[in-house]
Amino acid sequence: MPDVERDTGGKPVLIFPGGMPRSLDYLRKCRSEGVAAIGASSLDYDVASTQYPNWIQLPYVNHPEFDAALAKAIRELGVGGIYSPNPVVWNHLHAVLDTLAPGVRLVNDSPIDDALAGFRAARARARELLDHPLPVTVDRPGKPAVDEVELAAMFRHAEVIPGMCDREKSCALHEIARHCVAGDLVEIGSWWGKSAFLLARLARLYDIGNLLCVDPWSNEHLVQDDATGIVDSGSAMVDAGEALAVFEMNLLPYSANHVNYLRLPSTDGATYYRSRRCVTTPRFGSVAYEGRIALLHIDGNHAQAAVNADVAAWSGLVARGGWIVLDDYMWPFGDGPRRAGDAFLAERGSEVETAFTMGGALFIRMA
Ligand SMILES: C[S@@+](CC[C@H](N)C(=O)[O-])C[C@H]1O[C@@H](n2cnc3c(N)ncnc32)[C@H](O)[C@@H]1O
Repeated sequence: MPDVERDTGGKPVLIFPGGMPRSLDYLRKCRSEGVAAIGASSLDYDVASTQYPNWIQLPYVNHPEFDAALAKAIRELGVGGIYSPNPVVWNHLHAVLDTLAPGVRLVNDSPIDDALAGFRAARARARELLDHPLPVTVDRPGKPAVDEVELAAMFRHAEVIPGMCDREKSCALHEIARHCVAGDLVEIGSWWGKSAFLLARLARLYDIGNLLCVDPWSNEHLVQDDATGIVDSGSAMVDAGEALAVFEMNLLPYSANHVNYLRLPSTDGATYYRSRRCVTTPRFGSVAYEGRIALLHIDGNHAQAAVNADVAAWSGLVARGGWIVLDDYMWPFGDGPRRAGDAFLAERGSEVETAFTMGGALFIRMA
């Protein structure tokens, strides 16, 4: 049974106040589930009224006649449940609804709990990571971890950026950032900027260096020739130009002078990086780089030839004590990253201090 219908016993749901953005989201949900919705407002004229099939006016919630008017509306319209994203209205209904209209439920949880849920989860995650740091085995102790709220802020903001960087991997990135030498951070493959945001923030928190993102943001470069074609057919439906705009929207507010990008395939980006120390783009301005890499995150095209090319073009620029992170080393759609990672470990194992996998990624620290 659809959610709303279950909450209201198949009767109409009253949405009050009907004009708040989350009310309108809920109205859409009612429509898609075929449940009748009645909008309500205390305003004399509410522009949202035209969006509802049925609309009523109620007194303000603090008006002495509110409870009686609501009880009457519930009775006359056969309302089965009420949705309210307004904390004052919700709290009042939570206190009186049982008495006013037994059997009629508030169909949503407390709007305050709802608004804070993501922040609370991020704090809990930060606390958990601080209490149980991942055991990264390197010779020297890392920098002291930042405090719970700083870490939670990073997790919280990363959470709202869509993309492909799971929680395990972001915890591991935090841990290696504490054990990172100074230098540039380079990301091959940034798309909407989820992992780039994490790297940019970690670079600040642990004073590592500036972040350079290298990505062509072109549909042509999304083709990976995966065995079943399922990845490529999904990629064909996205707009790489739009992805760059989304990347900028996600990174710009946090980037002041320490993040920039090259809209180039990784091999051309490496040629640029080897010969120049400054990157300028219209929105991010000019950012200076050191020319030695403290943290290299490879998350570009996953076809084996492409990952090999990324490793060949960039790994030689990683500083001693620097990290290489090869994303999707364990990947259900192909083995390009795994083969490239294994080949790197076979060829350059003697220069590697430690290597481990977490969240599907291979983490390598150069000796
Ligand atoms: C898996 S996505 C990156 C996901 C991103 N790191 C995140 O956190 O969500 C792969 C990206 O690699 C980029 N890419 C493809 N070919 C590339 C190449 N030759 N050099 C650099 N990036 C490339 C694509 O444009 C795409 O943005």
